[in-house]
Amino acid sequence: MEKPIYLDYNATTPIDPEVATEMLPYLQTHFGNPSSSYPIGRSNKEAIEKARAQVAELISCQPEEIYFTSCATESNNLAIKGVAWANRNKGRHIITSAIEHPAVTEVCKSLGSQGFEITWLSVDQYGRVDPEQVKEAVRPDTILITIMHANNEVGTIQPIEEIGAIAKENKVIFHTDAAQSVGKLEVDVEKLGVDMLTIAGHKLYAPKGIGALFVRKGTRIENLMFGAGQEKGIRPGTENVIHTVGLGKACEVALRNFKQNQQNMQTSRDRLLNGLVSQLGNLVHVNGNLENCLPNTLSVAFENISAHTLASFISRDVLISTGSACHSGETTISSVLQAMNLDFKTAAATVRISTGKHTTEEEIDFAVEILANAVKKLSL
Ligand SMILES: Cc1ncc(COP(=O)(O)O)c(C=O)c1O
Repeated sequence: MEKPIYLDYNATTPIDPEVATEMLPYLQTHFGNPSSSYPIGRSNKEAIEKARAQVAELISCQPEEIYFTSCATESNNLAIKGVAWANRNKGRHIITSAIEHPAVTEVCKSLGSQGFEITWLSVDQYGRVDPEQVKEAVRPDTILITIMHANNEVGTIQPIEEIGAIAKENKVIFHTDAAQSVGKLEVDVEKLGVDMLTIAGHKLYAPKGIGALFVRKGTRIENLMFGAGQEKGIRPGTENVIHTVGLGKACEVALRNFKQNQQNMQTSRDRLLNGLVSQLGNLVHVNGNLENCLPNTLSVAFENISAHTLASFISRDVLISTGSACHSGETTISSVLQAMNLDFKTAAATVRISTGKHTTEEEIDFAVEILANAVKKLSL
């Protein structure tokens, strides 16, 4: 067992060995520009189209509805600003939630300072948006609803299908940031009823530096960048062939082993929680609702603990992240935990532990020992 044990898979994942093998020739010999008409160019164009089909298959859309980007942040920017600018003559109202990733909130804030009006929906104690509130917030000038599929910090899954139905009924474009859910939950754009969906490569065992955006045929968006005509002009610039091939393969692998991976992530997460509870009893407080949560995510607060002290204390053995930021001795609580109305003390004691598809029982048992001992020591 290699140490430290990595239990921060919501932050990023390692590249799957099958993905790395698929990418290798594009690092070595397959260097042609996909726009070139000679064979090493054309074959790279074909590799991109193969990847597009692999991504499309994972989320049940048409390949031509997939646009490759550099990351989830770019996909979110393209989706939100793209719809805002393309529809600004129709309306300037956007609905989002209080628990989005900064890659959505900052885009909305920026549009808010450029003449758009943003409605920020609150969430319940588990971090869930109420579809009734979405319905009430829709106005004749609403052009976009953007609500994430699953939250990165606490794992809460949003009622996307219900919101999708509301969006459709009111003819409002609906975008979801699925950076955390693709590869962990079933993601089918038809069932979810979304018009746009964000994918992040590095959260599903592809490399960092690649993302994708699903844009339903007929959804009008304006591009952020202008240049030559790559990605149908929506996202111009010579394609990142190596990483695109990697994302395609990662989607194929995710689909092939989906149930098994999901089961393993959840079994590991549950074993971890059971271990912690059996060692620490009521010092353990779970944030969110595990019945409606990503299978790999555990947001947990330990009574009388500083999450930062705990995470750094165990970092030689186990890697986890915290629910707050600490700058120059001052603790800032995450906006997600704030929106869930968690009190300061619990939020400052919150860590996020996220398991991966290959996390083993041995790793979990070791992590439980390390965490439980550290909590006992630090809460003295
Ligand atoms: C839900 C969600 N959206 C967007 C992002 C941004 O991803 P990236 O930094 O790869 O652009 C993340 C990353 O943590 C995320 O969890």
